[in-house]
Amino acid sequence: MPAGAVHSSKAWLQASKDKRLVKLPAKFSYLCSMKILLLGSGGREHALAWKMAQSSLCTKLYVAPGNPGMATLGTFVSLSVEQFDEIGRFVREEEIELVVVGPEAPLVAGLADYFDGDPALRQTLFIGPGAAGARLEGSKDFAKAFMQRHHIPTAAYRTFDLEERQQGLDYLAKAPLPVVLKADGLAAGKGVVICEEREEALSAFRQMLDGRFGEAGRKVVVEEFLSGREFSVFVLTDGRRYALLPQAKDYKRIGEGDTGPNTGGMGAISPVPFLDKKLMQKVEERIIKPTIQGLQKEKIPYLGFIFFGLMEVAGEPYVIEYNCRLGDPETEAVLPRLDEDLVLLMKEAATATGRFAPEAPGSFVCQTDRRFAATVVLVSGGYPGNYSKGLPISHWQEVQDVLLFQAGTRMENGRLLTNGGRVLALTALHETFEGALEIAQKAAERIYFEGKYFRRDIGQY
Ligand code: AMP
Ligand code: GLY
Repeated sequence: MPAGAVHSSKAWLQASKDKRLVKLPAKFSYLCSMKILLLGSGGREHALAWKMAQSSLCTKLYVAPGNPGMATLGTFVSLSVEQFDEIGRFVREEEIELVVVGPEAPLVAGLADYFDGDPALRQTLFIGPGAAGARLEGSKDFAKAFMQRHHIPTAAYRTFDLEERQQGLDYLAKAPLPVVLKADGLAAGKGVVICEEREEALSAFRQMLDGRFGEAGRKVVVEEFLSGREFSVFVLTDGRRYALLPQAKDYKRIGEGDTGPNTGGMGAISPVPFLDKKLMQKVEERIIKPTIQGLQKEKIPYLGFIFFGLMEVAGEPYVIEYNCRLGDPETEAVLPRLDEDLVLLMKEAATATGRFAPEAPGSFVCQTDRRFAATVVLVSGGYPGNYSKGLPISHWQEVQDVLLFQAGTRMENGRLLTNGGRVLALTALHETFEGALEIAQKAAERIYFEGKYFRRDIGQY
């Protein structure tokens, strides 16, 4: 399986690839031929494909629908993630053994349950929770109530639906400012409004209930504003124990100095400089373990990733949000630091073997490259508002020393074109943070497309 399809020029990439190829002992040879289907098409999925293609377990990787960056890593399948029947048919016909889901929407919509409900698909290993577990992300109200039930630290909140419109307005008339309004359902990262002014809060509340976010906003979570430092922690769990992946910090706002509207993410760093042992211990004891135990108590099976979006307030961690998948662009910074065979890790989690075996010692920290990772995202001019598509991208094959993950791109007559808001994610690894940031910035400068924009202050605070 070719593992080098991420464009990068230097020897460190080759060296790091060789180091990461986990050779299986002979007794595990029965595991050594997996056909894998990866669903999704963004930078996160390109990073997943890159990482999984390095596995000695992976004999064939299919990506659906994928993006041009994955062309030499796997075989494209022309299926969208919403087409459950077609996905099922493909998995049966191709005898796929492992399905990995990148984005949240098919999980919230019940793709794992669809597989579970079909005797011909039930045996397929499936990384991603069922709809019940995916509600941690799919319903902010469910997530808040879940945290309350299990005493997991999070901002105080109240939820209001259409029938409680007046109570909501009365509550907001007196709520301390700023106040945070969240559409209950999935809103493509745009369902959160932080209101500094009372009028703004009342108007945003009305608009949400009136359908500005579609059905997602017909229920609104009104949340206390927390002030602190954000960071993200990722686990792969089988619903009983968990593997702790490298942590990351995402830069969500479009503008430098964290200004302007929220985006899907303008860059990421890993590790997180202020996340020390003491804080991480609190995260595990107060947040990760109670979350997994809470799922167990509520009889919600969960096999997949949990992304804890956290905030440190005066030394104490709080949950800002749960996601039932990996982050984008965090994955592009996290996976290059993961010194593990990701397919083996998933296989162990899905089959209760190896480190996930019942007799194994328990939850564990993944082997991690000690170097620093910095990811800079190149976006289309106008993003997160309106932007053009189809603009030619040049110089992308010339950048040095970075992993280039494609996100919103398409290939036409051999030319790479922009095809989305977030276009490319560039990750550099270096012994120092400064080094990683500098290399990623330099590559970001070099690549060109009309309207290109990126933040020059990723990692600076
Ligand atoms: P979410 O989609 O819930 O992660 O929210 C998007 C962003 O809004 C977060 O990354 C935070 O920067 C911000 N945010 C969400 N909830 C709060 C809160 N309670 N206090 C302060 N900022 C918040
Ligand atoms: N970068 C934030 C997310 O993936 O939700």
